[in-house]
Amino acid sequence: MPDPIDVEVKKHSEDSIQRELWGTRVGFILAAVGSAVGLGNMWRFPYRVSEGGGAAFVVLYIALTLIMGIPLMLAEFSVGRRTRLSPIGAFKKEGGGGWSIVGFLGVLTGFLILSYYSVIAGWVIRYGIEGIISGFAADPAAHFGEITTGIAPIIYHLAFMAVTITIVSVGVEKGIEKASLILMPVLFAIVLGLAVWAFTLPGSDAGYSFYLAPSLSELMSFTTLSEAAGQAFFSLSLGMGAMLTFASYLSKHENLNREAATIAASDFGVAFTAGLVVFPVIAALGLTADVGESTVGALFIALPGAFVEMGAIGRVVGIAFFFALTVGAVTSAVSLLEVVTASAIDEFKIHRKSAAIGAGIIITLVGVLPALNLNALGLIDRITEWFLALGALGVTLFVGWRMRNPQEEMLDGASGFFASIVPAVLFFIRFIMPLIIIPVIIYTGLNLVTEFRTVFG
Ligand code: PHE
Repeated sequence: MPDPIDVEVKKHSEDSIQRELWGTRVGFILAAVGSAVGLGNMWRFPYRVSEGGGAAFVVLYIALTLIMGIPLMLAEFSVGRRTRLSPIGAFKKEGGGGWSIVGFLGVLTGFLILSYYSVIAGWVIRYGIEGIISGFAADPAAHFGEITTGIAPIIYHLAFMAVTITIVSVGVEKGIEKASLILMPVLFAIVLGLAVWAFTLPGSDAGYSFYLAPSLSELMSFTTLSEAAGQAFFSLSLGMGAMLTFASYLSKHENLNREAATIAASDFGVAFTAGLVVFPVIAALGLTADVGESTVGALFIALPGAFVEMGAIGRVVGIAFFFALTVGAVTSAVSLLEVVTASAIDEFKIHRKSAAIGAGIIITLVGVLPALNLNALGLIDRITEWFLALGALGVTLFVGWRMRNPQEEMLDGASGFFASIVPAVLFFIRFIMPLIIIPVIIYTGLNLVTEFRTVFG
């Protein structure tokens, strides 16, 4: 049974618009998990794992989720709940005008991520529909080329954006919360079922060892560490104010520490389980070379190939897989658009519907570029990964050094173990996290320059 949440609604700053609140605690958690779990877990995580050396990446990713992801999420939650504002206003209110730049960066990042995220989600929808109508194509590599060229990717991108805009314009409680409540458990069940199915495939051993047996030298690589950090921010929806915005609809009774841990654990669970689907399948089907190419399409080439070879069962499993992926993508996209929408509502005092539709249309137009050009898509993904790291540093410095008494906000509603660790977490946010994030920013920035050179040079 969901606990009824605090129903007292605070007046929204000077005007009389009332801030919406979550209907239930479970609703908030599902929406936040829905934001975290998406293409980042199933498309980006396996793709980065295969690029970043396999199991070493996985180990560093787990470590970073625990030591950086959870404190950073707690930091975003405390800023959001303290101010009950979306990112730009929140940083301005607590920190003064200059800090609002962290909020602006977050809105811009959300805007840019959604523009290409929606394109990938469009491919996912198309694969699902094709699976139902005609089955998966016999030559998956060539088919991926077809899927991503011409007008069709734009049409699927439009369709996906239309769904996202509709949910966000209906609002926090009716739209986002209800959708997550139904769709998230469905997603978990499907991915878990696929992992069990993958376990039964003959010849999958190499996949498991690539994924699960790290070598010590790779564990010491700073390259791997930086990439794992970028993936952790992306996958946990951190560094651009999504979690901050969701927490702005939260009451003072919620145990922020426990929620952060629950959300991070669920997100990790889905990503890890997705790896338990992807890598054994790749090994069993001899698709290692395709994935080694590490293009954005690795997943889309490898998995349909597997589904084809498995005949009728593969077709059913494949349809289920793409359905699960669509569900995860919708709930994440909703949170991306929510950041932009909530900022427009708070900054311009306009209605939710106009804000969501207006922002959504501009994002849809920007997304035409990545829909037409895979290099552009890859480049925006890299640029936004860097922005996320910058945003993560901004939030860390803000909560560590600028916010008034962050400890008080973190402790409100917390008890027992979760309350006792707050001082240590705050110490970590102040002194240790900047020391990790700054080198990550420098390293990711240098990588970005290389990427620019390859695309434009
Ligand atoms: N975390 C989402 C995913 O893994 C993507 C996302 C990033 C959503 C940043 C919101 C903010 O798919």
